[in-house]
Amino acid sequence: MTVPPCVEIRPADLSQAADRDVVVALLDAYASDPMGGGAALAAAVRAALPERLAAVAGARVWLAVAPDGTPVGVAVCFMGFSTFAAQPLLNLHDLAVLASHRGRGVGRQLLEAVEQAARALGCCKVTLEVRDDNERAQGLYKSLGYGGGAAPFRFWSKPL
Ligand SMILES: CC(C)(COP(=O)(O)OP(=O)(O)OC[C@H]1O[C@@H](n2cnc3c(N)ncnc32)[C@H](O)[C@@H]1OP(=O)(O)O)[C@@H](O)C(=O)NCCC(=O)NCCS
Repeated sequence: MTVPPCVEIRPADLSQAADRDVVVALLDAYASDPMGGGAALAAAVRAALPERLAAVAGARVWLAVAPDGTPVGVAVCFMGFSTFAAQPLLNLHDLAVLASHRGRGVGRQLLEAVEQAARALGCCKVTLEVRDDNERAQGLYKSLGYGGGAAPFRFWSKPL
């Protein structure tokens, strides 16, 4: 049975040291999760991330905060642009909830906040990438109407 959600979703303030530390800690926990690759962020990345992320004009970051003030989830998004729609879009780059707080609707609340913001920003869609073997995340996304369309894309990359 799902426990009723009881977190506050608020934008992270990357100009504040406390929020910067929280965002790094939550992304580090995500990276350490099997679905994030299973390896903690390198020390150099942890050190550089807050300032560099704060400098990205289209970055939007939300935190899920438990009633006792503990940050338990994060969503990191970047503004993009759909040439086919001639409208902005919002890409969900990272969505993560601490393992101790999963299955209580926190991820759903974060994603709903992302969608709400995307609408307010005039975006035509929210995009995201999800691993084929991430059934939990796919379950969440499908339940909120996300899908790959008739011809799902492969998400490829080339390290430079
Ligand atoms: C994916 C993740 C963010 C979901 O957060 P969460 O707070 O546990 O999710 P919620 O409790 O809001 O679950 C919402 C929905 O997800 C689906 N879901 C949850 N657990 C599931 C599971 N074990 N299997 C399949 N679907 C599941 C359900 O549809 C659920 O809705 P319901 O509770 O009404 O049935 C979280 O599991 C996580 O941080 N995982 C590791 C990082 C990750 O994989 N991020 C996503 C990368 S694309």
